[in-house]
Amino acid sequence: MSEAKPSLDVVTGPEASAPVAWWQHAVVYQIYPRSFQDSNGDGVGDLPGITQRLDYLRWLGVDAIWISPIYPSPMADFGYDVTDYTGIEPMFGTLHDFDHLVEEAHRRHLKVILDYVPNHTSIEHPWFQESRSSRDHPKRDWYLWKDPGVETSNVETSDVETSRPDGGPPTNWVSNFGGHAWSLDPQTGQYYYHAYLPEQPDLNWRNPAVQEAMFDALRFWLDRGVDGFRVDALRQMIKDDQWRDNPPSDEGPTSQNPYDALKPLYTTDRPEVMDLVRKMRRILDEYGARTGMPRVLIGELYLRIERLVAYYGEDGEGCQLPFNFHLISTPWKAPVIADLIQRYEAALPPHGWPNWVLGNHDQHRLATRLGAAQTRIAAMLLLTLRGTPTLYYGDEIGMPDVPIPEGRVQDPWEKRVPGRGLGRDPERTPMQWDNTKGAGFTTEVPWLPLADDFEQRNVAVQRKDHDSILSLYHRLIQLRRRTSALHRGAYDWVKSQGHVLAYQRSAEDQAYLIVLNLGDQPAAWNVEGTGKVAVGTHRQREGEGFSGTVTLAPNEGVVVRMG
Ligand code: NOJ
Repeated sequence: MSEAKPSLDVVTGPEASAPVAWWQHAVVYQIYPRSFQDSNGDGVGDLPGITQRLDYLRWLGVDAIWISPIYPSPMADFGYDVTDYTGIEPMFGTLHDFDHLVEEAHRRHLKVILDYVPNHTSIEHPWFQESRSSRDHPKRDWYLWKDPGVETSNVETSDVETSRPDGGPPTNWVSNFGGHAWSLDPQTGQYYYHAYLPEQPDLNWRNPAVQEAMFDALRFWLDRGVDGFRVDALRQMIKDDQWRDNPPSDEGPTSQNPYDALKPLYTTDRPEVMDLVRKMRRILDEYGARTGMPRVLIGELYLRIERLVAYYGEDGEGCQLPFNFHLISTPWKAPVIADLIQRYEAALPPHGWPNWVLGNHDQHRLATRLGAAQTRIAAMLLLTLRGTPTLYYGDEIGMPDVPIPEGRVQDPWEKRVPGRGLGRDPERTPMQWDNTKGAGFTTEVPWLPLADDFEQRNVAVQRKDHDSILSLYHRLIQLRRRTSALHRGAYDWVKSQGHVLAYQRSAEDQAYLIVLNLGDQPAAWNVEGTGKVAVGTHRQREGEGFSGTVTLAPNEGVVVRMG
């Protein structure tokens, strides 16, 4: 095979010897609390359940857990509709259970990151109940209320339903979950705005009283020792103050998702969002300075790279980790991923620390998107790229999407826009711990069905099997933890050739080469020098020395210690 041509220039990184904060070298693990571990036999996971499983997480080697919302909620959107920002949903436990979880996690050197849901409350939140009670209520302005159809707009949206000025919704804005984003409240004759469900009214973040109340919620949890927040729907927090219609998108009606019919120009990523990010960050930094333990601000931001990196802030006063979801949406092809890494690295501001995500509770499972053979490659990629990786529970045992029978659908999105594959239940099914009835998740009927294959695919079976994907995750995480080239090193280069993606990372005098075959044919990669396989997707390769050429089976990847 001929010498691989560099398809990309050298990619630079920061000085590998610079000190890094815990959230930079950490591996973050997302827990969807309803589905992790049920401790009281109601078929729904809970906080004591998470505490029971901390030893597993410690064994796996992750450094931080991010827990999806655990606040009191009527569960219209499974916790992303909050009625009290400083309480615990009884289904999940009590504040005492929460404190115990934080204490036990910290005892094991695991950080705890909470989900913060600032864009909207539940319709049942007392603030909204007061706000809707009359047009004169002092909390009226805590939400976004508008008269029917009186706003005018000069933006042509002929393809899109606008329904004004006959008393319909004030703008053409659509909900992320389908349908109008405005609902009429008959009692006061005005519409309120909701970026998601009508049961999730958006807060008015231009109101300083809203800001103060919501910042107090951050302080409440920081006082209880939490190590950071993942901020939900961050790009949605401010809407256009001129209430302009969104223009039609280029994709138009071809998309499966009705939300994509419009460009969310006036409803997302408004310039003023960054002011709020700065304020949140300042609060976290105050706590960090006071306690000597930095707190992390993670932003949920589905944005193109150029806009995403703006959330680091010009001087690093924004999110430390604006979630980078691009590996989820990018075609799984070696040159495309090499190009993505390059573009992302090039776009990062000097102080910007990269991060990568391969799955979460809103996306189809990795194993379903890529197929079983590539899930090992994906694990190796995620855990060897520069920057903080976030794992989604269950991906470490290769859980695929679980088909949900019609009668058991839970997700409101699937209920509102059925049959288009938008529903998120398949990726939220219970964690498969062992082969007992209930998969070790519950002793009763789980809230979502278990995968048919849980008796074979579970933590207990895979922990004993050195060739399992779980064992691979374990080895990769352990290697990453002890290897500075991997947890903080720079890229020497990133290249692709055919279906092979390769990069080399180094720190101090260590260099590690990663070669991943994204194709289903054997491949080879030529390198200068010699090395030894440290971790392989195919375990029998580990320890193998090579010189000149690395040969790879279909879907095989290796991490090689050079020299
Ligand atoms: C993003 C969350 O990840 C998703 O699960 C939720 O439905 C929406 N934001 C609304 O909070």
